[in-house]
Amino acid sequence: MAMGKVLISGRHLTKVYGTGNRKKAAVDDVSFDFHEGEIISIVGESGSGKTTLAKMIMGLLKESGGAIEYDGKPRQMKRYRERKAYWKDIQAIFQDPFSSFNVFHRVEKLLVDCIKLQGLKLNKDEEYAKMKEACSFVNLKFEELYNKYPFELSGGQMQRLMIARIFMLHPKVLIADEPTSMVDACSRSTILDMLLKLRDENRMTIVFITHDVGLAYYVSDTICIMEHGRIVEAGRAEEVIHHAEHPYTKQLINDVPKIHSPWVLD
Ligand SMILES: Nc1ncnc2c1ncn2[C@@H]1O[C@H](COP(=O)(O)OP(=O)(O)O)[C@@H](O)[C@H]1O
Ligand SMILES: [Mg+2]
Repeated sequence: MAMGKVLISGRHLTKVYGTGNRKKAAVDDVSFDFHEGEIISIVGESGSGKTTLAKMIMGLLKESGGAIEYDGKPRQMKRYRERKAYWKDIQAIFQDPFSSFNVFHRVEKLLVDCIKLQGLKLNKDEEYAKMKEACSFVNLKFEELYNKYPFELSGGQMQRLMIARIFMLHPKVLIADEPTSMVDACSRSTILDMLLKLRDENRMTIVFITHDVGLAYYVSDTICIMEHGRIVEAGRAEEVIHHAEHPYTKQLINDVPKIHSPWVLD
């Protein structure tokens, strides 16, 4: 699919945690251009700075250095109005789908709140139709789930509901921080296919964060490999995987279990 204009870019982004001699750059001079309708994976081991980078892009964490541009202009987050406008366009889903939702609320409320958040004035029938449509987008049956509490759902079902919310909110950018790491293998591939569908049908820009280079290769146009807070290699997914240059990238690729190769004893 042809990519659109640059939607969000980072220049020399840095995040330093701690003070004095306990200072540590969790993200260290990272630059990028993410385009409209592009799926970008950020791949790296635990502790490489992926979540810190994601939070800076989300505007949940202030950068220590560098700048972010959104839609061709410096991103402004000082005023409430500016933050509200930015968060309308950029949404996130996280590793633990239960963490971002009140456990005392039923599924129906999770979805109704999403309609309220958009300021839509719908009658009950329209609300119902919208929630049903969102659930069927993620292969869930609204009639079976609307009355349930989060603890009655599996991690995979819950994560799919979070994607149903994204489908309803249709942001321009979705940041998915390890969205499949707490779900079963079956839900995992469904979730990846949903991300692809969100991009194909809604031209969403998706930043997919993972430690799994195999998953990254499956979904992305572009892969950025992150090590110790730096992007050490980036490019088209095929290029990065089939012509890896950086030793760390080669190591990540080597560590992928080779299901299809015969037993090798060494
Ligand atoms: N709030 C924090 N205060 C201090 N150090 C942190 C904080 N959050 C993360 N770190 C450190 O920053 C580094 C990057 O963390 P993180 O961005 O969570 O990486 P990843 O998501 O790739 O696992 C790690 O060394 C982590 O310990
Ligand atoms: Mg993380």
